[in-house]
Amino acid sequence: MTIMSALTASSLFTSSALRASKTTTTSSTSNKNKNKKNSSSFVVCRSQKQQQQKTSASSEKSISLLAPSSSKNECIQQIAAKSKAPPPPAATGPTPTQIAAGVFAAAAIGVTARKAMKKKAKKIVIAGAPASGKGTQCELIVKKFGITHISAGDLLRAAVAQGTDDGLKAKEFMDRGDLVPDEVVVNMVKSRLNEPDCAGGWLLDGYPRSASQAEALSSYGIEPDLFLLLDVPDEELLERVVGRRLDPVTGQIYHLKFFPPPDETVAKRLTQRSDDTEEKAQNRLKVHHANVNAVLSKYKNIMKTIDGNRQKTTVFKEIEGLIKSM
Ligand code: AP5
Repeated sequence: MTIMSALTASSLFTSSALRASKTTTTSSTSNKNKNKKNSSSFVVCRSQKQQQQKTSASSEKSISLLAPSSSKNECIQQIAAKSKAPPPPAATGPTPTQIAAGVFAAAAIGVTARKAMKKKAKKIVIAGAPASGKGTQCELIVKKFGITHISAGDLLRAAVAQGTDDGLKAKEFMDRGDLVPDEVVVNMVKSRLNEPDCAGGWLLDGYPRSASQAEALSSYGIEPDLFLLLDVPDEELLERVVGRRLDPVTGQIYHLKFFPPPDETVAKRLTQRSDDTEEKAQNRLKVHHANVNAVLSKYKNIMKTIDGNRQKTTVFKEIEGLIKSM
């Protein structure tokens, strides 16, 4: 491959890689800008060249009277000497050093783009007891990192609301605070993970919750890189459950005591989940404790336990650091 074709191939790779990474991460945006910059300087170079060609053409016309046998560049030098203006650069191609620098720059941009794409593919599971703050932290993670959030509980509630067969099957288990059978939940989560917005990474909330669900995930070749476990004492959880309220308009999670709504308008439209009673929360906690160890042992190599019994911003700071270091 010649240096020029290497440059062309490298530039082509760079622009297609950047097109493919058209998502909202800061790094991909800055690469896109970089690329824009590069293409606009390319345009400038082209227009300079066209200008030179124009200059050369008009020079050639007048030079043909002055010195018909001169080459184009010699004629330009003559005109420049006559007009005492500094001569324009000779209309030659880039030097080997410039080509090498171009190849290097294009390759560097390609590497940065590949790194950005690789960095983007974060596969994270967030686990914890009911009301340990999974949803709250997911809101913050999504805001910071733009990762696709998949909540098993939200998928099930959507199926219930739509009255699908799966929703009808799930409802009675959810009403009791029991785990919905694998035949419903496993395929639901797997299908969601196969959607295009998960190709660049995902944040799986509330799944897997049993050994069989973890096995199912592995059997589909789906492996997280980080398993976050929010650790909160049971007595704290119950208070969180009964005080939780949801904003149906924005999806924001509030707590009557810990994170009250900002104004009366929002306060009036808040809803409460039907399983957020103390009685149902007790059963949800029991189910959680019965299953959690089997899941943790499967992911112990990638597990990070986080003290979730702190201010939500403090908890997030720790999670942010872990995600950044992935
Ligand atoms: P799901 O919806 O997943 O419920 P959950 O696991 O019980 O968790 P929660 O949504 O209740 O709590 P969270 O940890 O998200 O806490 P949040 O951030 O909201 O599942 C519901 C049901 O679906 C299950 O019971 C089951 O039936 C079924 N299901 C789901 N997944 C399944 C699966 N894989 N297999 C089978 N069945 C499944 O916070 C709670 C409250 O605390 C909020 O009010 C919040 O404002 C407050 N809060 C949050 N952080 C803090 C903090 N740091 N300090 C003080 N308050 C805080």
